[in-house]
Parts: sequence; C-alpha cells; structure tokens
Amino acid sequence: MAYYIYRSVLPSRLVTRQVMFLQPQKFALRNSNPVLFQSSLSRSYTNSIKSPPPNTPSEESTSSSNLNKYLGRIGKGYAKRLPTAILAKIIVTVLVGSISVDLLYAWYRNRCNERLLNKTVEKGTRPDIGISSDKFVPRPEIVKRLKEILQPYEDQSSYYMVCGEHGTGKTTLTRIASSEVGNGVIYVDIPPDFEVLGETFGKAINFAFEEKISITEQLGRKILGITKDKPEISEWKRAMRAFKRASTVYKAKYGKPPVIVYDNVSRLVHKNPEILDILQDDAKDNADDRKYIAVFVSSEGSVPRRMESRSSWSRADKPVMEIGDLSKEESINYLVDKRKIKKEEAIRLYELVGGRIVDLKSVADKSLAKQPFEVIKQSILGEVEKKFNTAQLLRKQLHHEVGKKAIKALFDSKELGFTTFMEFFNDYEEASKVLETNIFAYHPEKNTVSFQSQSVECYIREKADIFIK
Ligand SMILES: Nc1ncnc2c1ncn2[C@@H]1O[C@H](COP(=O)(O)OP(=O)(O)O)[C@@H](O)[C@H]1O
Ligand SMILES: [Mg+2]
Repeated sequence: MAYYIYRSVLPSRLVTRQVMFLQPQKFALRNSNPVLFQSSLSRSYTNSIKSPPPNTPSEESTSSSNLNKYLGRIGKGYAKRLPTAILAKIIVTVLVGSISVDLLYAWYRNRCNERLLNKTVEKGTRPDIGISSDKFVPRPEIVKRLKEILQPYEDQSSYYMVCGEHGTGKTTLTRIASSEVGNGVIYVDIPPDFEVLGETFGKAINFAFEEKISITEQLGRKILGITKDKPEISEWKRAMRAFKRASTVYKAKYGKPPVIVYDNVSRLVHKNPEILDILQDDAKDNADDRKYIAVFVSSEGSVPRRMESRSSWSRADKPVMEIGDLSKEESINYLVDKRKIKKEEAIRLYELVGGRIVDLKSVADKSLAKQPFEVIKQSILGEVEKKFNTAQLLRKQLHHEVGKKAIKALFDSKELGFTTFMEFFNDYEEASKVLETNIFAYHPEKNTVSFQSQSVECYIREKADIFIK
C-alpha cells in the first residue's frame, strides 16, 4: 500500500510541481489538489503519447518510466530555455522600468517649471524701485491711476498705453504701482539689446527655457532620424507663449486676467518695429479674449504714433495716460527738502530745467558738488545745442528755415495742434523726422506738440536772435 502510494502519488506530485511551474498561475491554483490533478494529467498525458490507460501496477510502472523519460526531456529543454527566458524577462522589466522612470522624470521636471511659472504670475514680478525714501517725491495721484490700470476687472477688453518724455519718472512710478499691486502683474523692462529680450522676458516670469526632453524621446528621435520636431522659435516668443499658458491658469483661479507691463517699448520702435507690432496685435487679441492685459510704457512720441496708425489701436484704452513733469511747487520742494538746496538756488535751477525729475536730480547733484550756477547752466545748454545739431535745426542746417517758423510759433503759444505743427514743414516726412528729435514732444492724449523740455525753451530764449526774431 505504502509502495502504491509512493509510486502513484510521488511522481504525480513531481509532475504537478513541474507542470504547474509551466502553467499560468490561475490554472495551478484551480488544480491544487494533487490527487485530482494526477488523474486529469495522466489522462491527457497518456492521450498524447498514445499508451494504454494505466489500470495495472505494471502498466503504471511502464507509463511512469515513460513519464520520467518525457519529463527528463522537458527538464533538459527547460533547463536550457529557462535562463534565456528569465534573462529576457529581466531585460524587458528593466527596460520598461527605466523608460517609465525616464518619462516620469522628464514629465516631473517640466511640471515643476510650469508650476514655478504659474506661481510667478500669481505673485507678480514686484520690481525694485531703487530710490531711497528720503529722496523720493511722492506722486500719489499718478500711482493711484496706474494701480487702477494694473488691476483689471474680469471683463476688461482693452490694453493700455502710458506715455511721457524721457526722465519724467514713468519707470519709477510704474515699478512702484506694479510692486504695490503685486499679484498678477508681470513687469518686463525691454532691454536696449534686442538679442536679450527673450532672456529678460524669461527672467521676469521665471521661465526655464530648457524643456526637459526624456532620454527615451531623444533616442526615439535619433532612431527615426528626427533632428528637430518643430521649427525653432525665438526665446521671446517661447516666453510669451509660456506667459499666455500661465495667464489661462491665473484667470481660471482668480477670475480676472493678469497684466503684463512692457516698459521702455521705445527701444523697439527704431530697430525692431515689427516686434512692437506683434506685441500690439497680441495685446489686442488677448484683450479681446480677456486673457491678459498689456500696458505699454513709452518715452517717445513715435511709439504712440505708430501704434495709433494700426488697426489694433481699436482696443487701446483712450485717452492715453501721460506722465509729465513735476509742478513748480513739487520741484522746489524736491530741491529744498529732499536735496537740501537753498531756496534761491532751487528757483534758479527750476527755471533752467523745469519739473523734469531726471534733470532736477542732475542739477541738484552738480549744485551739491559746488558747481557754480553759470557752469551748470552752460553744461545744460550745451547738451541742448547738441540736440539741435542732431535735429539739423542750427543755422545753415537742413531744417533750419522751416524749423525756425515752427519754433517761433511754439514759443509764442507753448503748444500747437499736431497738424498745425506739421504744416510748417515741406512734407510729412520732414516734419516726422524733426518731431522725432528731442527738441519737440508729441502728446497723444491731446494730439498736440510742445517743446520737449524747459531747458530747450531756455536755449531758444538764449538764442533769441537766431530763432525768434
Ligand atoms: N518720484 C521721484 N522722486 C525722486 N526721484 C525720481 C522720481 N521719479 C523718478 N526719479 C528719478 O529720476 C530719474 C528718471 O526716472 P525714470 O523713472 O527712469 O524716468 P523715465 O522712465 O520716465 O525715463 C531716475 O534717476 C529716478 O531715480
Ligand atoms: Mg523709463
């Protein structure tokens, strides 16, 4: 009996174990009863080798030895195949694992960059002001108006233009308003060198240009011979696209569009006017779609004149905001209180340069450095003469005769309508060229022309025999 059990059960166990190893797991579990399994296995096994059913011990013994032989063959083949199969399995597992980790890492890095970008737009750029409070002249009305512009309502559908001559304090005031509003305000200072516009833009929004491309994708591209999947686009356009993506996220979260401030756009108008056009068109489209609101800050009349002449101007908020000079009182207070200059000297300096903060600062520095008033005056008027020379308005220069008439008319009335001013010149082109120099200033808000500064007026008064007699 014991022998019978040994001969019939043990081999069947062995078979069970070996066959189970080759079977899928489900099957092995269903047939976990070795006795039951033995009978079914024997049947199928005997069928396959076409031997009589194992009813007697002798038959059993024959079939058992055949089985052993057969299993021996399987075992040998299996032993040969096993390492290859396992190896293949390991390679596939490692490969799939590495690809997944690689793809996941690239996805994670790009996701982190995108989150940083979204956070920056959410928090805003908050640019530095760079003036100590004891030297600062508060201009609360202008800051208030700028802050209103920087906080659009949900359905805002226009973009803005802020103008003013060089040195009136636009950058300072825009930075103050941007920092005070903070959330959702991105401030971009257009650099003098167009080549670094992308970098500047990227820094303002904390955008990482290095998109993480997974090794798998890189390999795939190499294998398929793809060198570049898309035509290269410039960095500033990539930064712009990134900003637009972040704008959508910002709007969805806060229910209002973010704002982008382009300071010093005048830097684009001469060498890269088409970039200014793109920014303006994009500002119009995105104001239409309520995605973001753009604010253009310019120091030159040529910018609003160019922008006004294009169809996208239809979405600009009007009238254009203009930041001008300090009043007489503000200027004298600045010189006396903030710069500790005697009132008498302060009045003389004000009469020389007017309320242009950049000039007041410069003459105050000179005065505090003990330069006599006459020396300061000659230096200021010398600078103005250089501007007249560039504008070809001096005696015997190209625009002197026509320019003289316009100068006299302006000296008498302080301000002329744009067309009245243009009519002094031989043609529109000549008038535009002269207007672009720093002798005159164009005011888009009122569509008028005036002298560019008090110091220009001072120079004309000094040279009255040439220009106004
Ligand atoms: N409110 C102010 N108080 C004191 N200094 C000022 C003020 N606004 C501007 N400035 C100074 O005047 C100079 C010109 O200002 P800025 O803002 O650059 O003018 P803009 O951008 O119009 O050319 C800078 O040196 C700045 O520090
Ligand atoms: Mg500026």
